[in-house]
Order: sequence, then structure tokens, then C-alpha cells
Amino acid sequence: MTITPLQIEQWNAEFENKDPQAMLRFFMQRFGSRLALSSSLGAEDQVLTDMMVKEDAEVRIFTLDTGRLFPETYQLIARTEEHYHIRMEVFFPPLEKVEEMVRENGINLFYKSLELRKQCCHVRKMEALRRAFAGLDVWVCGLRREQAVTRKQVNKVEWDEANGLLKLNPLADWTEKEVWAYIKKTGAPYNVLHDKGFPSIGCQPCTRAVPAGGDVREGRWWWENPEQKECGLHVK
Ligand code: ADX
Ligand code: SF4
Repeated sequence: MTITPLQIEQWNAEFENKDPQAMLRFFMQRFGSRLALSSSLGAEDQVLTDMMVKEDAEVRIFTLDTGRLFPETYQLIARTEEHYHIRMEVFFPPLEKVEEMVRENGINLFYKSLELRKQCCHVRKMEALRRAFAGLDVWVCGLRREQAVTRKQVNKVEWDEANGLLKLNPLADWTEKEVWAYIKKTGAPYNVLHDKGFPSIGCQPCTRAVPAGGDVREGRWWWENPEQKECGLHVK
């Protein structure tokens, strides 16, 4: 697939002020089964799931199961499948690499150093992501500019150089309030942990609740600096 920087610029100009549903419709019609949603079951991903299933019930939605997710997240996978009568594609990390990493560094290696935390994210997410990308030209993500210092520059349409495919962030300009208004309006299923003080949810050992009014990503890798809080999925 050849997509020029000019084409990406044009798409951004076209979709920056359009609603995400219209943007998704355009790209889903154009790329069909070569486009998929990458869902962590977060609130944004549940919005995108709702929008995309409404466009096409056969749309591909995958999730990377690190093996360390909250029980509530697994319950949400099941609830989402029931709600929309769909099946999500669940990808696991390579077992030999996980076993080797844990044998060398311990089961909770992520607390020991930034390097080991990144290694854990890499082994548990990136390898599975590569497999999820097979047959894809486009991946759709739930990144929002407001979420973090590392996400301020996010565009709605990006060329993902690291992975060699097109990346869409249809909710880039949405506020947290807009995300929740959509969920309430549509009755889309969401993680019950959101009602217990967890605005952003990743793996269980690396996520904790945030006091009311706190920063949305404060509870993710809470022992690290905000500039470092990315798992490798969204590097430029
Ligand atoms: S993270 O990189 O720090 O974990 P965050 O939880 O905010 O990111 O999610 C941002 C986007 O990355 C999600 O909307 C989703 O598109 C993608 N993503 C994150 N984690 C996963 C996962 N486990 N499986 C699939 N996609 C994911
Ligand atoms: Fe490992 Fe934590 Fe990254 Fe999950 S978020 S893959 S447990 S370091």
C-alpha cells in the first residue's frame, strides 16, 4: 500500500473537524477487512467499538491479552461480545519469551526498573501486536490529545513508521466528557472499574485508582515520570 505524506495531510485536513463516525465510515468502506480496531477495552475503545459495529457488524476488533489484565477487563470482553453479538480477536504473547523473562527477572519485574518495565511491555504486547497486524493496512486506536503530555501532538491520520501501516485516532480531539456522554447516550458497555476510581486501565499490577479530579493517567505506572508512561505501542 502506498500512501504519500500529502495524502495523509489531505485526510487530516478533511477529517479534523468531521465527527469520528463519518471518518470511520470513510476508512472502513475504503479498507474493509484490512482495517481493524485495536482495543484495550478502555472507555475510548468502547466508543469506537460502538461506532464501528454500527457501520459494519463484521468489523475486526482485536485486543492484546498480556496475561496480567484485571478480571473486570476479561468480563468486559465477554460483555462486549454479548452486547454486540461479535467475537473479538484475542492475541497472547509468545509463551517461551514470557517464561524466559519471568525466570530471569521475577514475576513482577516491572517495579524493578524502567528498562525491565519496558521489556515486559515489549514482550507481552509488541510481539502479539505484530501478529495482530497480519493482513492489515490500517489500525484504529483510541488515543486522545488531552490524555497525556506524550499525546498532545496526535493526529487523526498518521503514518505509523514503526509498524508500516496507517494509524487512525478518530477521537484525538475528544474530551473525557465527550467520551462519557457518548457511552451514557448509547448504553455501550464499559469497565466497571471506571466507577471505582480508575479513569485509565491497563494491566492490573501497573494500574491503580486515582483520587477524584486527578490526572487520567496518574494511576498508570504511577511510580514513573509522565514523559515515560508509554508502553511502546504508540512510539513515533
Ligand atoms: S497504553 O499504551 O498506555 O496502554 P492506553 O491504555 O491509553 O495506552 O490505550 C491507548 C490505545 O492503545 C487504546 O485506545 C488502544 O487503541 C491501544 N491499546 C492499548 N492497550 C491495548 C491492548 N492491550 N490491546 C489492544 N490495543 C491496545
Ligand atoms: Fe507488563 Fe505492566 Fe507493561 Fe502490563 S503494563 S505488559 S504488566 S509492564
